[in-house]
Amino acid sequence: MEIPADMIDRIRGARHICVLTGAGISAESGVPTFRDAQTGLWTQYRPEELASADAFLRDPELVWRWYRWRRELISKANVNAAHLALARLEKLVADFTLVTQNVDGLHQRAGSDHVIEFHGNIFVNRFFKEGAEVECDDSEPVPTCPDCGGPVRPGVVWFGETIPPSALNAALAAASDCDFFLSVGTSSLVYPAAGLAELAQGSGAAVAEINPQSTDLAHTYEFAIQEPAGVALPALVASMVSE
Ligand code: OAD
Repeated sequence: MEIPADMIDRIRGARHICVLTGAGISAESGVPTFRDAQTGLWTQYRPEELASADAFLRDPELVWRWYRWRRELISKANVNAAHLALARLEKLVADFTLVTQNVDGLHQRAGSDHVIEFHGNIFVNRFFKEGAEVECDDSEPVPTCPDCGGPVRPGVVWFGETIPPSALNAALAAASDCDFFLSVGTSSLVYPAAGLAELAQGSGAAVAEINPQSTDLAHTYEFAIQEPAGVALPALVASMVSE
């Protein structure tokens, strides 16, 4: 596939590129996206019913079973061509910020250095009450802190929770500073992440989307590429480096 020449020109001329990724970039690694039907045992639940403090209070064992299933799936997953292309793109531009809504750590495994984890990381454990990170035996049905006995939860941002301030501030700063904003593999339905492209646009950046199913916001962007990330991103990087 060909990336439009005017899009490549904008990227080449950019001082700071900010990329926002969502579950779609890990789909080709076999990690299911959120708004695809849940698979196997989990078909009867919607993620909103499992990824919330209310769900944890109601049935912490169920919530842990789901997260353990996702942790295992992600541990076995391999990075894909899209993750690798973004790690390569980072090395080609002066200033590069990767904001990810994914909690799978696959960007870091692919070699991306400057990653803002907007929704946390699934492999981290935190106190349910205070939110501080904790080391514990997480094979228990509901892990607890070895010192105080308090319940422990996965270190991800749940529905109804706020984004960690350091991640939020860094992402807002990058979106308003960049001159090219690229949104990849996200349905752009969950705020505040979905508002970053608009912030970038309002600050004068060009915005592009890569998604095989164009989103409701795509018509407001300069460029929309309807291809899987594993096809479009390697093509984009190849165009960047070719004369
Ligand atoms: P979604 O599941 O909402 O959207 C995934 C998007 O990826 C869809 O728009 C798909 O069309 C697109 N997609 C699928 N395959 C793709 C591919 N091969 N290449 C590129 N795009 C592809 O996931 P997110 O937008 O990440 O939040 O969801 C945002 C947040 O809502 C998540 O971080 C999570 C979720 O519930 C929390 O857990 C707080």
